[in-house]
Amino acid sequence: MAKKSSSAAAASSSSSSSRTWRHVQPRYYVKRPKRLALLILLCLSVTWIFYDRQSLIRDHQEEILRLQEEVANLHSALEAIHVRTKSSAESIPEQEETETSIQTESISADDDSISAQRREKVKDAMLHAWKSYEKYAWGMDELKPFSRIGVDSFGGLGATLVDSLDTLYIMGLHTEFQKATEWIEKSFSLRKNIEVSVFETTIRFCSLVHSSLVDLLSFVAFRILGGLLSAYDLSGEEVFLEKSKELAERILPAWDTPSGIPYNRINLEYGRPTNPKWTRGSSILADSGSEQLEFIALSQRTNDPKYQETAEKVIERFRTIFPADGLLPIYINPQTGINPTGTITFGAMGDSFYEYLLKAWIQGNKTEAVKYYREMWETSVQGLQSMIRRSNPSSFAYISEKLGDTVYDKMDELACFVPGMLALGASGYDDTEEADKIMTLAEELARTCYNFYQSTESKLAGENYYFREGEDMVVGTSWNIQRPETIESLFYLWRLTGNNTYREWGWDIFEAFESNSRIASGYVGLKDVHTGAQDDMMQSFFLAETLKYLYLLFSPPSVISLDEWVFNTEAHPLRIRTRNDVHDEELMSLDQDDKIPSHLRGRKEGRLENK
Ligand SMILES: *[C@@H]1O[C@H](CO)[C@@H](O)[C@H](O)[C@H]1NC(C)=O
Ligand SMILES: *[C@@H]1O[C@H](CO)[C@@H](O)[C@H](O)[C@H]1NC(C)=O
Repeated sequence: MAKKSSSAAAASSSSSSSRTWRHVQPRYYVKRPKRLALLILLCLSVTWIFYDRQSLIRDHQEEILRLQEEVANLHSALEAIHVRTKSSAESIPEQEETETSIQTESISADDDSISAQRREKVKDAMLHAWKSYEKYAWGMDELKPFSRIGVDSFGGLGATLVDSLDTLYIMGLHTEFQKATEWIEKSFSLRKNIEVSVFETTIRFCSLVHSSLVDLLSFVAFRILGGLLSAYDLSGEEVFLEKSKELAERILPAWDTPSGIPYNRINLEYGRPTNPKWTRGSSILADSGSEQLEFIALSQRTNDPKYQETAEKVIERFRTIFPADGLLPIYINPQTGINPTGTITFGAMGDSFYEYLLKAWIQGNKTEAVKYYREMWETSVQGLQSMIRRSNPSSFAYISEKLGDTVYDKMDELACFVPGMLALGASGYDDTEEADKIMTLAEELARTCYNFYQSTESKLAGENYYFREGEDMVVGTSWNIQRPETIESLFYLWRLTGNNTYREWGWDIFEAFESNSRIASGYVGLKDVHTGAQDDMMQSFFLAETLKYLYLLFSPPSVISLDEWVFNTEAHPLRIRTRNDVHDEELMSLDQDDKIPSHLRGRKEGRLENK
């Protein structure tokens, strides 16, 4: 009995389950044409409702775009009126300007009126770029100025906003800085599945830039972490340090490899570090070997040594395989950490590795503790000199590229940071003859880079140049995406030589940006530096780097003094702190045995012994 009832129950349950499922079987409808018709009707109306909503949304978006355009036009008109009234009331000093502690001390002292005017022009440019971003792309990664929309090309970390914080601060744009700080407090979020967007980013950039330049790890470290730390150093607002820590925690798993050399991509939400497909599993030199500045700064400011240790382990690794000429090929396997392969270049994918060797030494205030960085740098500068060639007929010095034994007579605009790096490092040579030689090379290379700009119709540089017999330099890839490297070098050269020519050159480039790139709703790049055809993207580094270096070029040397600050590779200034490791006042007043982990204490002791 019990058996029977249970089997009956089983039968009824199976029949009821088949009854629920019969609706999805075509057989069911074939026998019931009325129901079939009803079903089709239902499908049709659902589709119609969906499409209707879609077209409604589209209509709305069009309407919004049209209205935004109108607002923009009105705003431009208003701006024009504002500028006219302002110029008629020039004598009234600007409130914002006087508030900046970094500026007040210096402006006026050794400043001239032309530079002051130019500085104001650059500040206007920044305001224009910023206001456009604020209006159309607030909180998003980048602005597409013609489309007047924002795009999250880096997974939605507010790239332009974070990247611009210190520029706003340095220029004394405090209202804007404050508003951006509030956004960081309330909306900066790392809970994003960013990998998907990296893919999107790569696709976008593949058609526009070297795909290599959009690497998540270096992007996060240089722009976001660097931007936040710099904002912290300038303003002292705790929120920036908190967010920096949070971010660093999320990227740290990328360094968890047998060699200590990091993977170059990581999903910010789930971890899972990887390398991009096109490198065949390799890590890239510039992305792997240059997070020292940001991580050392973070360790110094949080008194937690792990970031610094992680980044310095990479340098230790590179030191063990450092070749005699100090030049490392751009690909390295994070599993083995040996036998790097690929091109040797100071341009894309190599650049910041060499830069950070010098800058980590400066960041540590050039003590014994960081001397090995300087030594490695000097070695690579030897190698660099072996790659210098001269064009014909005008004898422009340039940095060639090398693959195996083959030399390519090609130079990226990206490599135009080198003159600035050499100028910055020149004074550190014990031998004055060597120092002069390096400074002369810096000046020669700067002339070449300036000529990258001067030699085109638009007076803006292409992405890279080929040097052919009898032709001097010829544009290779012809776009200009508002890159900063040449201006960065002019800034260093002016600061370190006092030669006004570099300011003039910088001004020429600024004017070329003004006439080619400025539109009513921001700044765009050029698809072609000969025709002047424009693209539809305002790069975050235009605000972070290009305009910042221009502003500093026309400011007195005491504004972000090179004795107190070191710029990371994305132009975010970090405060120099003497390194004999963990010497901070706060720490000294604490019980040291409790506070400093023993492995770090060991290192510190080792360094004191070295002294
Ligand atoms: C200033 O720099 C330019 C470009 O490098 C150079 O031609 C000129 O001789 C320099 N002037 C002085 C006074 O050193
Ligand atoms: C760097 O070291 C020098 C002494 O060698 C010192 O005078 C200077 O204040 C230090 N700078 C910083 C920023 O700590």
